Amino acid sequence: MSSSIDTRPVILTGDRTTGPLHLGHYAGSLKSRVALQRSHRQFLLLADTQALTDNAHDPEKVRRNVLEVAFDYLAVGIDPLETTICLQSALPALAELTLLYLNFVTVSRLERNPTIKTEIQLRGFERDVPAGFLCYPVAQAADITAFRATVVPVGEDQAPLIEQTNEIVRRLNRQVGRDILVEAEAMIPAVGRLPGVDGKAKMSKSQGNAISLSASPDEITDAVRRMYTDPTHLRASDPGKIEGNVVFTYLDAFCDDGQLLEDLKERYRRGGLGDITVKRHLEDILQALLAPIRERRARYAAEPGYVLDILREGTLKARERTEATLAELRAALGLFTLT
Ligand code: TRP
Repeated sequence: MSSSIDTRPVILTGDRTTGPLHLGHYAGSLKSRVALQRSHRQFLLLADTQALTDNAHDPEKVRRNVLEVAFDYLAVGIDPLETTICLQSALPALAELTLLYLNFVTVSRLERNPTIKTEIQLRGFERDVPAGFLCYPVAQAADITAFRATVVPVGEDQAPLIEQTNEIVRRLNRQVGRDILVEAEAMIPAVGRLPGVDGKAKMSKSQGNAISLSASPDEITDAVRRMYTDPTHLRASDPGKIEGNVVFTYLDAFCDDGQLLEDLKERYRRGGLGDITVKRHLEDILQALLAPIRERRARYAAEPGYVLDILREGTLKARERTEATLAELRAALGLFTLT
């Protein structure tokens, strides 16, 4: 960037570092981050401390995946000259802001947060919810406000976290008597979540139904071959269903040729188009999409020192920005300063 003042709207988003990213991440967020990085001032957070809130039993996994996720970012085209990539656990201002914000939110409000409620059920915590997990929406509010982000691209399931953030913002602003923190807006992707290749749930590595961004050509072929279609479409000549047919859901997400896609749907519905033919179209598209990503990823993975330099530089920049917010808030709250 040039040295003139950067007036682009600020985006903060990020990922828990619990595993390499997959095609679902690409369709749902990575692709739009690549597009947004020119029109917006974008910060990407490698959310390792947040990952610990439900992975405290496996900190090694969280550590190992910091670089894996960074490789994924760079491989899909996140440009470190446009986007600041930074490491959450290396930004102490985020932890300090979290501690301050915890006094402006009640336990019952956290327990009512729809995202948290669902996630507690999904993880089977029942009554043994780690306090860090219950409070991660407060930490995420610290992330968002520390960067003074106004745009936060998150999945639909995370929208209540932005609402919670803005409540904290309003409470703090009321407390200090001026708009010291800025409210943020969730940016929900237009495309829904990509289902797994089995059609059952969302794509997720732990479900074994994901296509990773580093999938080999054979793995892609195999995943498309296994992909769930319409179980009542037994012969090519039978009429087939598009709804709930994973191959078409993926074509909707990745096929740029709208005319071809409409044509395929029309012929499939009518009868006369076999699964194998539709799958061949999808396979060609996915092979073409993932080949350059896989190659770039391998090149970054072979140069971890170079990627570490990018993270170090991004984190230094982020440290400056987040510490400025913290200093302002400490002063506004009138915390005692030892000079
Ligand atoms: N909650 C996000 C996830 O589960 C990661 C994240 C951490 C985040 N801090 C954030 C997203 C701030 C947006 C803004 O992947």
